[in-house]
Amino acid sequence: MTLYGRDLLCTQDWTVEELEKTLRLANEFKDTRYDHPLNNCLDRRTFFMFFYNPSVRTRQSFECAATELGGHAQFLEPKTMRLKSAKTAGETVADASNVMSRYASGIGIRILETAIEEYGQGHELLEEYAHHASVPIISMAHDKYHPCQGLADVMGMRAHMSDDLKGKKLVQVWAKGALVRSWCSVQESILINSRLSMDVTLAYPQGYDLDPDVYKMCEENAEQSGGNFEIVHDLEEAYKDADVVYSRNWMTAGFYEDAQKHGIDAAKQKEIELASKHEGWIANDEMMSLTNDALFTHCGPVDRGAEVTDKICDGPRSIVYDVAENRLHVQKAIMALTMGTHNI
Ligand code: CP
Repeated sequence: MTLYGRDLLCTQDWTVEELEKTLRLANEFKDTRYDHPLNNCLDRRTFFMFFYNPSVRTRQSFECAATELGGHAQFLEPKTMRLKSAKTAGETVADASNVMSRYASGIGIRILETAIEEYGQGHELLEEYAHHASVPIISMAHDKYHPCQGLADVMGMRAHMSDDLKGKKLVQVWAKGALVRSWCSVQESILINSRLSMDVTLAYPQGYDLDPDVYKMCEENAEQSGGNFEIVHDLEEAYKDADVVYSRNWMTAGFYEDAQKHGIDAAKQKEIELASKHEGWIANDEMMSLTNDALFTHCGPVDRGAEVTDKICDGPRSIVYDVAENRLHVQKAIMALTMGTHNI
């Protein structure tokens, strides 16, 4: 089984065996960071990082990953590239992806809510790039999914519990906050963890439904893996007996329409006001005391005091920084497998 040349838009696109192979290599890179036999597999190769939206972890971890594999990651901003969009004339995706494929060994793309008009447009753009490019297209977080984050989450939970997470309860819980978050990390988490046989509880106040197609995939994943997927709207029920708490704000589905009608700033303000009504939706001592001494995880950036208290985020059961570090190891594995060599 080779992953050479493959795209990664969502972990659902790869088999469980392919994901496990990636996680094994990521752990090897973690254990032998500067001394792994594949450390030069990107020698003289370039990875393009195409950012429509800002980032801390993703940009820096991909740059470090490329460096540690002997290659180079180049930062690109679409606004400087005369690309065609809904509002402007310019170079087509077909032409841009064909040309970029002649230079680079792989292309990463980040495109989130504020850079699109409706849910799904970001995913469609990645699919269009993937269709035309002759090198791998890797999601660096888009409106639907964040596969690198999902793999880093799994790596962190396994390191602190067990390689076999079957039967462990993950609570993926909505939290209040002022950052108006994307659905991508949350949808990726519930997909990959239901697939890898965890008992996944998605908890949120009424009105914060995610993509129904993702719910359907989670149900199918759980049926196939022997895990579980359920949705609850009661906070105490959600936290009860949890082994892992992943507390994260996300926007309502109404954001896109509001942004089209009233502008992005007004749509964000409306989301912040809505979210502020849900007192209690924060990972704090009281909520964590209901759990099975749960780990606390978060993809970052953390909205401290809203999504989680400092005490929990900085406490002995927090794996937040380990998961952030894992982004580096997971992305090294993805790049080595898809762009580095046929032979692993
Ligand atoms: N988790 C994550 O993707 O972080 P950044 O937005 O900082 O890249």
